[in-house]
Amino acid sequence: MITKFSYGTPVETFAVVKDFPSAGHEQLRHFSRKKGTVQYFTCMLGEEDIVYGLGETMRGVNKRGGRYISFNYDDPHHKDDMPSMYGAHNFLIVDGEEPFGAFFDTPSKVVFDIDSKGSGVLSVACETQDLRLYIIEGETPYGIVKQFLGIIGRSFLPPLWAFGYGQSRWGYKTERDISRVAAKHEEAGIPLDYICMDIDYMDRYIDFTVNKRRFPNMTGFSAKLKGKGLHLVPIVDAGIKIEPGNPVYSEGVEKEYFCKNHEGTFFKAEVWPGMTHFPDFFQEKVRRWFGDQYKFYTDSGLEGFWNDMNEPAIFSTEYRAKDTKPDVERGDVDQPERHIADFKDFFHRLDDGREKSNYEVHNLYGALMTRASGEGLGRLLDRRYLLFSRSSYIGAHRYGGIWTGDNASTWEMLRQNVYHMPSLNMCGFLYSGADTGGFGGNCDRELLLRWLAVSVFTPLMRNHTAIFTRNQECYRFRKVEDFRTVVSLRYRLLPYLYSEFMKAALRQDMLIRPLAFDYPGDEKARHIHDQLMVGESVMIAPVLEKGVKGRVVYLPEPMTEVRWSSEGFTCIEVGAGERTVMAPLHQVVFYIRKGKLVPVGKQVSNTSELDLMDVELLGTGTEYEQYADDGYTKDCGLNRCVLRRKA
Ligand code: GLC
Repeated sequence: MITKFSYGTPVETFAVVKDFPSAGHEQLRHFSRKKGTVQYFTCMLGEEDIVYGLGETMRGVNKRGGRYISFNYDDPHHKDDMPSMYGAHNFLIVDGEEPFGAFFDTPSKVVFDIDSKGSGVLSVACETQDLRLYIIEGETPYGIVKQFLGIIGRSFLPPLWAFGYGQSRWGYKTERDISRVAAKHEEAGIPLDYICMDIDYMDRYIDFTVNKRRFPNMTGFSAKLKGKGLHLVPIVDAGIKIEPGNPVYSEGVEKEYFCKNHEGTFFKAEVWPGMTHFPDFFQEKVRRWFGDQYKFYTDSGLEGFWNDMNEPAIFSTEYRAKDTKPDVERGDVDQPERHIADFKDFFHRLDDGREKSNYEVHNLYGALMTRASGEGLGRLLDRRYLLFSRSSYIGAHRYGGIWTGDNASTWEMLRQNVYHMPSLNMCGFLYSGADTGGFGGNCDRELLLRWLAVSVFTPLMRNHTAIFTRNQECYRFRKVEDFRTVVSLRYRLLPYLYSEFMKAALRQDMLIRPLAFDYPGDEKARHIHDQLMVGESVMIAPVLEKGVKGRVVYLPEPMTEVRWSSEGFTCIEVGAGERTVMAPLHQVVFYIRKGKLVPVGKQVSNTSELDLMDVELLGTGTEYEQYADDGYTKDCGLNRCVLRRKA
């Protein structure tokens, strides 16, 4: 059951697509509410309660014991206790005696204190008088999540090629650099579907331009790569460079599509291209205009994009030099608030006529950029597009996916990648993943192999790293055949992974879940967060520690243990309970639930060669409901068939 409460005059966030009448305030039973400068909601947690949700936040799957700030922020120094990331996903689930979910639907800053002091208090401080609160009651956390996914609308549906392996690096500058990446993968026999183009493809980092010297013929180049089954995926940043003569800039100024400051002139912020203006994505006409700009790329045959710097990230402004320290006296002690004065200094005109400072509606900015581009690409292309964004808010999942930003090449960030996946799924973001191998820092062979073995199971599987780090493409490492083996598993599993993604998206369900969601009542499973369920048949238990050759795996029921190596799949039946499993770097071990099947396809070098229906079946089940389609048709219904194991 879902109950909606409205306070003040909420800003339209577009997160919830279903209409509900608001209930009387006296009906709010799960929280007590205090109204002051902030709206303050509190409740007491039971001793054993677990708190799930909060999407892109650090720490772990159980959010208990931490403090989390929904205030989208570009902090490249990822730590496992940092309070804010790039997204605001204000949905949590309390798994206690009477489980319930709560969605705090406001684009303003929200601080969640989930029993950080150990006193059992869960508090939520919303820095606004205007919000909607949805309370969801249900029997189980999973049931509550399904109800929530049912009201926020269907996930974005990427094309099949977006489920292939992608290679990226900030630092590929020219057509030659990119051709080399393609050739090296081919030479090493490592499957690949797309290569990302970071800011250097542009003319001086200006959106909707291409550096002609580096890419003399983008249309020809993209066609040539497509001929080999490869796609190009350019980055697009939020800010438009201030440069008279650039048509996008001039039109934005002339039509007043950019955000203004307190003086009524266009707000100026320094990002990659130097001083920029920020499009006011809160206005429908601006979103339409910005989305239409992607024609520049689609005309060259490009169908995949990553939107960046859209929290928005700001290096400096007219008024604030680059290295301003946090203003501790004003209370700006939390990292994300370093730029508080900047966000208070530019304004959005909402479609309902109100004007709000960015600070007040901050968490929607990136999501509205995603919406603008997603809707634009929907108009421009007759097929599905790939889009993933750095910043997000619930609702943006209907237009694109997300990646979890500038992580680092550390084992802790690999573990965070695992913890993020179910939490993101609870908030609607099915198409997501991390920078495989880590963005900052130098990745080594062992970490990359282990990370790839996790990314095999995440919908977005992209190796990306920063310009100042060591080269991180698989072919840069010793014994490249081990990398070929691990990446190849992704392609063998694609008939299953694609089918499970599409079924989850079309049925508004989760793809990646904590064990507890599938084994309610199993006390042990309830506390295991480094193993995950992927789709209806698979459980993964990845190795997440340096220097070890295996790990202890908990099996809530008897399962098929599948070992993937260069020799193929080997399956053995194993009993329930704990088990020590050896997993050398060149092998990947995963599990198939009792009575379930996994269809595996033929080995291919990219998805253009893949026949989703040409499969063999692994596991002990008798039937599998497979979803398959052409991989690009837009409005796919549920194209299913039932695969039966031959007697
Ligand atoms: C940001 C992005 C990162 C990108 C870099 C350069 O840090 O998060 O992925 O490589 O900008 O564009």
